[in-house]
Amino acid sequence: MAPKRTLQGDFRVEPLGKAHDRATFSCGSEPLDNYLKRQAGQDVAKRVAVCFVLTPDGKTVAGYYTLSQYAVDLVQLPAETVKKLPRYPEVPTTLLGRLAVSERFRGQKLGEFLLLDALYRCLQQSRQVASAAIVVDAKDESAKRFYEHFQFVPLPSIPNRLFLPMGTIGDLFRDA
Ligand SMILES: CC(C)(COP(=O)(O)OP(=O)(O)OC[C@H]1O[C@@H](n2cnc3c(N)ncnc32)[C@H](O)[C@@H]1OP(=O)(O)O)[C@@H](O)C(=O)NCCC(=O)NCCS
Repeated sequence: MAPKRTLQGDFRVEPLGKAHDRATFSCGSEPLDNYLKRQAGQDVAKRVAVCFVLTPDGKTVAGYYTLSQYAVDLVQLPAETVKKLPRYPEVPTTLLGRLAVSERFRGQKLGEFLLLDALYRCLQQSRQVASAAIVVDAKDESAKRFYEHFQFVPLPSIPNRLFLPMGTIGDLFRDA
């Protein structure tokens, strides 16, 4: 996985705001569409998640992702990861709660761009508030394969939950 953090054209990542057209967003997964349309704004207002959108023009939503702080029970992690961690009952992590690309914009590496943007943002934040890994819940097998494509590792104890150690992300962006 090579860090590719620039895109052709005017695409940019912005915090979800009133100017973004959520109503027409369609990624093929109704729960992910509905989350953006109905819930994301409230979650941001209540500070339980932040939501970033990828937009070519400040209005159209080509994709989005959400981030929150999240604690994982140490016992849920693979043994080889646990060996490297202190024996606290919980490990501080960052939850990449949702990530989706509009069907209109698929197959243009925008999913990769959004994921790398999220990883980089989490790495930067972890230097202020510690986080040992990024955790994702893949909604189905296809989403799981997407994350595995980017080196996420399944948690043995929880189906469809995967993680990527912050150390691996640090290595990825060492020269960035
Ligand atoms: C998964 C998703 C974000 C991919 O977005 P995308 O913009 O079409 O993907 P990209 O063009 O950035 O693909 C980047 C790489 O990932 C691979 N990839 C994309 N989707 C994949 C999948 N489902 N399984 C395995 N690999 C996948 C591509 O083949 C490409 O590989 P390459 O660099 O070797 O050519 C998009 O299909 C989506 O939003 N799906 C519905 C929601 C979803 O499943 N979200 C996942 C979190 S729950």
